[in-house]
Amino acid sequence: MPDASQLLCANRLKGYSALVTGASSGIGRAIAIALAEEGAQVVINYVGHETSAQEVVQEIESKKGKAIAIQADVSKEKDVQTMFRKTLATYGTIDILVNNAGIQQDAAFPDMTLSQWQKVLDVNLTGGFLCAREAAKEFIRRGVVEDRALSAGKIIFISSVHEIIPWATHCNYAASKGGIMLLMKSLAQELAQYKIRVNSIAPGAIKTPINRKAWETKAEEEMLLRLIPWKRVGDPRDIATVAVWLGSDESDYVHGTTIFVDGGMTLYPGFTTGG
Ligand code: BGC
Repeated sequence: MPDASQLLCANRLKGYSALVTGASSGIGRAIAIALAEEGAQVVINYVGHETSAQEVVQEIESKKGKAIAIQADVSKEKDVQTMFRKTLATYGTIDILVNNAGIQQDAAFPDMTLSQWQKVLDVNLTGGFLCAREAAKEFIRRGVVEDRALSAGKIIFISSVHEIIPWATHCNYAASKGGIMLLMKSLAQELAQYKIRVNSIAPGAIKTPINRKAWETKAEEEMLLRLIPWKRVGDPRDIATVAVWLGSDESDYVHGTTIFVDGGMTLYPGFTTGG
């Protein structure tokens, strides 16, 4: 793929503050770095991997960007409220929230424990709710600042192709992503009156630690590529470039929608022949 850093660095987010949940690795990390490359000052949220989060901060600082790391479990109301208090104390306000933190705990349905079900819903869906609520309060309090942005703020959910593709042995994950879809749309409908823009990005198979088993060996990657018409497993930067665009005023009329960034995974590739 083209080097995304050649596409970025246009300072489209200069003067903005952004918070990215689950930013110590994978898609969240790439988004945080890309937002910073475009001029935003960024909060790197992490839950357990402090060293990795600090590495992201250092990488941003090495490119003359601004970032801080804040520990918080997005599924815990108090953690989220404290994280937003720290963010506002550090940066004054916030312009972009990227609800990226997500986990998988896969199991055949009859064997799925209540704890596996609950944990995935708590982090992926409730975490999105808690962070979006705190961001919305600040966006509403501050309103639109002319000369800075056309909106009072942007909320970007990192969903998944599994907000519409059912996924056997991953029903907790698929249910959480389906939930995000209507959470996002309901918020978009409700918050437009405050000039808050709400959208989702739905990644397909992107090379990150969450799905390492699906692409680690040549044979596994070939199996995966059968599901991807574009015949390439995605790179976190494929998602980061779209997040930058959704965070900028260039996408001002895009509201309440999901952008699928999946190499065509949602095109029913099984029907390429036959049907
Ligand atoms: C999941 C990955 C999976 C991809 C495509 C993502 O949301 O987290 O594990 O490879 O969807 O199925």
